[in-house]
Amino acid sequence: MTDVTVTEHLLLHQKRTPQATGQFTGLLHDLILSGKSISRRINKAGLLDILGGTGEVNVQGENVQKLDAIANRIMKYRMERCGALCAMSSEEEVDLIRVSPEFPRGDYILIFDPLDGSSNIDVNINVGTIFSILRRPEGRSGDVDIQEVLQPGTRQVGAGYILYGPSTMLVLSTGQGVHGFTLDPGVGEFLLSHPDMRIPRQGSIYSVNEGNRENWDAPTREAVEWFHTCKTPGGENYSARYVGALVADFHRTLLSGGIYMYPPDKRKPEGKLRLMCEANPLAFLAEQAGGLASDGRGRILERIPSHLHARTPLFIGSPVDVEAVEKMYAGHAR
Ligand code: AHG
Ligand code: MN
Ligand code: MN
Repeated sequence: MTDVTVTEHLLLHQKRTPQATGQFTGLLHDLILSGKSISRRINKAGLLDILGGTGEVNVQGENVQKLDAIANRIMKYRMERCGALCAMSSEEEVDLIRVSPEFPRGDYILIFDPLDGSSNIDVNINVGTIFSILRRPEGRSGDVDIQEVLQPGTRQVGAGYILYGPSTMLVLSTGQGVHGFTLDPGVGEFLLSHPDMRIPRQGSIYSVNEGNRENWDAPTREAVEWFHTCKTPGGENYSARYVGALVADFHRTLLSGGIYMYPPDKRKPEGKLRLMCEANPLAFLAEQAGGLASDGRGRILERIPSHLHARTPLFIGSPVDVEAVEKMYAGHAR
């Protein structure tokens, strides 16, 4: 652990141009503040009456947990006031959230999953907030049009997540590598703990919900069979790990290598994960850390979202492991 704070790190590493307005740094500052607020609330789960469902079903057809709603509210409240955004999109909301004219507007668009893995929260397992930052296309002003938001992941200018685990961690990329920061709760600061994170070229862990096996497509079956029998560079068998919270499964993959998969299946032919608020930001981090992110047939970051809540299959992690899956798909016509 270093004593470099996230603010200090950003000031040192942000490219400074005469045109820079400080908007982006301000955006990250308020995003980090939102993460700290959510972290505090989550730490109180079990003490306050914030566990369990709200009784509502969200746009994704999933039960809304009380903490989903709390995290969504915290993000919206803080980020609408940050001065750097013109619009936001949340996994929990059907429509684009346009920044009200009563607040200063900026040039950026924030897309987020306020609480990923929330079905795990009642059993005290890691959850996280995932975010993707886009810039509004040049020359646009006034109310944001939905087409301005439906950009491919290659256009992200920043992405990351805040993982609420045994310790709270921020993992962030602004396009110059991936850096991890750990929250020191005593001083309330994120300190640089994982500079320049790199995914191992090949891992020893595959991560998939094998309960869906009978509904998988043929390439996924073949890929998982391959992971059952192939060997690591050290000659060992692969191990299986599946938390069921993407952010936690991805964090392990980033640190230890291997692959996380959410394939298409008969009931979910487009997969389950959301392209814009889940797959794109993690794909950006994976590539920045030397890994790959694929839908089986192509790069996640090049997919053009058809709508805000578009879904995608996801195979993400060490390059050798993701390429093995792509090879299985290449052997099957679409
Ligand atoms: P969310 O909690 O934001 O709705 O996301 C849940 C996602 C993701 O976190 C996880 O990897 C996946 O759902 C698990 O799905 P299965 O239970 O179908 O394996
Ligand atoms: Mn999620
Ligand atoms: Mn969520």
